[in-house]
Amino acid sequence: MVDAFSLSIGALLTLTAVALHFAKGTERPTADDIAEEVLERRAATVPETDFPEPMNRAIGGGGGAAAAVAGGGDAEGELEEGGEEAAGPGDIPEDEIEYYEVEFVKQGETIELANNEPILDQGEEQGWDLPYACRQGQCVSCGGRITDGPSEDYVVHDNQQMLDENEIEEGYTLTCVAYPRGEFSIETDETP
Ligand code: FES
Repeated sequence: MVDAFSLSIGALLTLTAVALHFAKGTERPTADDIAEEVLERRAATVPETDFPEPMNRAIGGGGGAAAAVAGGGDAEGELEEGGEEAAGPGDIPEDEIEYYEVEFVKQGETIELANNEPILDQGEEQGWDLPYACRQGQCVSCGGRITDGPSEDYVVHDNQQMLDENEIEEGYTLTCVAYPRGEFSIETDETP
């Protein structure tokens, strides 16, 4: 009898506890709203990107990655454009440069000239006051005369537009666009 009564009381208490549990719930107040607010504030400080980011993995890095991709594309374009330019004597690579002994008659000196730099520039590097105007092969201000023979046997003219065949045969050269290709003697400040 007592046992049955105790069991009844126990069952009643258990049911009451269960009923209270479902009535009030065990849910605790969460910080969901605060977390949301923090995420929104953080997102506002991150630059916009042009592509969807999975979760928040790329926060702060997406923009940089997009810029890098865009930059890489431009650089490739520039390389392609550069590859179409014609190479001249001035583009000879450092490890292929050759040097020739050249006598400057009026200066009374013989110096070594590289084949990747105009005669005029290399003479000026010696401190000599040599004549010039356009420095593009379009006048004759920088003219000189190679005393050994036809000038183009001894120099490469890169785009000279003033000397005719006879003048070249006589040894005339435009020193601003003339690159040495052998040893010779030259008189500077000489024009046809
Ligand atoms: S400076 Fe004009 S052609 Fe050399």
